[in-house]
Amino acid sequence: MSKKAYVRAHTNIALIKYWGKRDETDFLPMNSSLSMTLDKLYTDTMVVFDEALPQDSFYLNGEKQGEKETQKISKFLNLFREEKNTAIRARVESINHVPTAAGLASSASAFAALAGAANLALGLDLDPQRLSTFARRGSGSATRSIYGGFVEWDMGTCSDDSFAVPVDDAGWDIGMVIVAVNQKAKEVSSRIGMKRTVETSPFYPAWVESAKRDILDIKAAIAAKDFIRLGEITEANGMKMHGTMLGAEPPFSYWEPDSIVAIKIAQALRKQGIACYVTMDAGPNVKVLCRLSQAETIKQALLEHFTEDKLIITKPGKGIRELTPAERAV
Ligand code: DP6
Repeated sequence: MSKKAYVRAHTNIALIKYWGKRDETDFLPMNSSLSMTLDKLYTDTMVVFDEALPQDSFYLNGEKQGEKETQKISKFLNLFREEKNTAIRARVESINHVPTAAGLASSASAFAALAGAANLALGLDLDPQRLSTFARRGSGSATRSIYGGFVEWDMGTCSDDSFAVPVDDAGWDIGMVIVAVNQKAKEVSSRIGMKRTVETSPFYPAWVESAKRDILDIKAAIAAKDFIRLGEITEANGMKMHGTMLGAEPPFSYWEPDSIVAIKIAQALRKQGIACYVTMDAGPNVKVLCRLSQAETIKQALLEHFTEDKLIITKPGKGIRELTPAERAV
């Protein structure tokens, strides 16, 4: 039996989005992306490999998962088993720590935590950069959750050099207010949505071109600690990504009426001189990038339309780490 490894990984929100794969088997992206890791939302995962186990098993929030979910985990663990040259099966237990308003559980924190725990359990000793190339093959956005603060996922040229790079610890009055618009299951998953966009949207080539510029511009804004510029680039990049979906065949959108309400509130706050900028992913939730010192004011404005349980304030989070014995709930 291997050691029981316990790892925590935080989720991340892309400011420059990953939208589209050039290789679906290896999860190689069409463009480099850049995210902020979040403190409040994370996954804790325990992995143990054991010769006595007849097959892999996967428990999420205390519940044994079915065949489909377990197969995804097995496929991912195979990457680590291949690296170790073993066929030994594993037991995986994960807990998603997501504040009351659900619908925010993410594949990014899930696969980053699982990668970190599998690495430790098997004693592979992969460095964080290499580990991010493993996390990537569970879910693209998981690549970036290996590190804290602002993180770039360099698209690279092949599987070995498409990895995450820490850019800045984001320790300079940065925060995010998450508006959990609803918890319904998505009609179009991000995986299907990005594929359809790449294959059919005439706007897609323009997205790839402009994402190249955005990534350079946002890194310059981060280096200069220019929050306004950071926010402007973030909001524009997210809007462009959502624009590509309207051009797809058939067209689709993740926006809901309440998403627009949240965006309008943020725009009104901006007119009042509060710097805040929105971004959305493959779902209706709105994330408002702001100065941490103004997050409470922004929350108060959002409370005029949204209930308390739908609003989450978070600061930037840290990279993956092994849990201390006292923290091990799984
Ligand atoms: C819109 O990482 O969920 O959130 O690689 O197919 O698992 P797969 O997709 P996923 O896509 C994330 C898309 C996004 C933008 C982003 O996080 O960069």
